[in-house]
Amino acid sequence: MATKISFLSFFLAFLFVSTAARDVPFDESPSPSPSSTPKIKSNFTYVCDPSRFDDLGLDITTFSYCDTSLPFTVRAKDLVDQMTLSEKVRQIGDLAYGVPRIGLPKYEWWSEALHGVSDVGPGTHFDELIPGATSFPTVNLTAASFNESLWKNIGQVVSTEARAMYNLGRAGLTYWSPNINVVRDPRWGRITETPGEDPYTVGSYAANYVRGLQDVEGQENTKDLNSRPLKVSACCKHYAAYDVDNWLRVDRYHFDARVTEQDMLETFLRPFEMCVKDGDVSSVMCSYNRVNGIPTCADPKLLKDTIRGEWDLHGYIVSDCDSIEVLMDGAKWLDDTHEDAVAQVLKAGQLRSLATLEGPTSSSMAQLSTQHCRDLTFEDGAYRPSCPAVLVNDMSCNDEFEFEVEVQNVGSKDGNEVVMVLRI
Ligand SMILES: *[C@@H]1O[C@H](CO)[C@@H](O)[C@H](O)[C@H]1NC(C)=O
Ligand SMILES: *[C@@H]1O[C@H](CO)[C@@H](O)[C@H](O)[C@H]1NC(C)=O
Ligand SMILES: *[C@@H]1O[C@H](CO)[C@@H](O)[C@H](O)[C@H]1NC(C)=O
Repeated sequence: MATKISFLSFFLAFLFVSTAARDVPFDESPSPSPSSTPKIKSNFTYVCDPSRFDDLGLDITTFSYCDTSLPFTVRAKDLVDQMTLSEKVRQIGDLAYGVPRIGLPKYEWWSEALHGVSDVGPGTHFDELIPGATSFPTVNLTAASFNESLWKNIGQVVSTEARAMYNLGRAGLTYWSPNINVVRDPRWGRITETPGEDPYTVGSYAANYVRGLQDVEGQENTKDLNSRPLKVSACCKHYAAYDVDNWLRVDRYHFDARVTEQDMLETFLRPFEMCVKDGDVSSVMCSYNRVNGIPTCADPKLLKDTIRGEWDLHGYIVSDCDSIEVLMDGAKWLDDTHEDAVAQVLKAGQLRSLATLEGPTSSSMAQLSTQHCRDLTFEDGAYRPSCPAVLVNDMSCNDEFEFEVEVQNVGSKDGNEVVMVLRI
């Protein structure tokens, strides 16, 4: 799979982390141990740290996106407006490369926390400073308690540990958890990751775990959901009708789920609906498979119309790792070229746009190259990732493809940090 074109995601998200407590880096182990002990340092970087800009030879006062007196939407728009089209494209994979020219650091969007912060994603690292995080029982076991407050409490512990790791530069703020696919076949290999076979229980687990991960105590009911603070960002996956891995020559990359409209609504979509409406999740990940012939990541009815339209998602939609490549090479959807596939995915998830950017610039953009997932990211002024997606190197777009940009504030933490979502 070395040359996959993964691509992905539909948005760029920017997170401004800010000030206060975080400005004081944890410098080294306070223990007065032998001088031969290596110093363990925090490598947390606050994006809008004036010394970072000094090091880059930039004057921070000329960048409105670092002006904390301005609303997050204004700061995010300022940042996005300063990027060229190709710079924007470089921010939409799980590794967002940043834009040194304007002081924007890179951000890895991909972290995982199914039942505890995990180092499965590239955004999270355990080392001597943080050797591990609490690993709670597998999700199918926790779900069997049928205890909603327990599900939420576990999420709260996980997000507290995640924030602690983030503050030491060991984790991201964007977690591609939970997995809420409804179990339909006991042979499916990922059953332990999920809350089981009952759509209502699965949806209830999703809403509670997501609230535990995302909610900032005391600000759970902020009226403007677009600026509701987030502790970390959660992601309900994999949308939808996905639970087949490899069976009788059918695998998840080629699986075309044939589902009746009733079963789709009552079984497969219901938990995601509860995750978005009751949990106010900030991200949904589309899956590898097709549903009734159409790849989920390229279906505007499933993404744009349902998640954004009917359910009113305040956040971003991200593709699974290499979903776009799978759509081309696995499903052979419409004989798409790489560029067609990317365009379709972006359009399917698109809902609003604030501004139309320069349209197709010549041919200089294109050739998505591979790697695995990426999406958006930004931490602290930098960014964070979302799910899988693509690595876009030099992407070349076809002439009909128009990029549009939408900037959306999906939340802030402690009144100080925000995730901005940019759609291109
Ligand atoms: C969790 O899933 C595993 C694997 O399918 C199964 O053996 C176990 O019985 C399940 N646990 C519960 C509580 O359902
Ligand atoms: C449910 O979980 C909470 C912890 O979140 C615990 O205090 C409570 O006792 C549990 N309820 C039952 C019925 O076990
Ligand atoms: C911080 O340092 C650790 C250990 O060297 C490394 O694994 C991690 O990627 C670094 N994180 C950031 C955000 O640079």
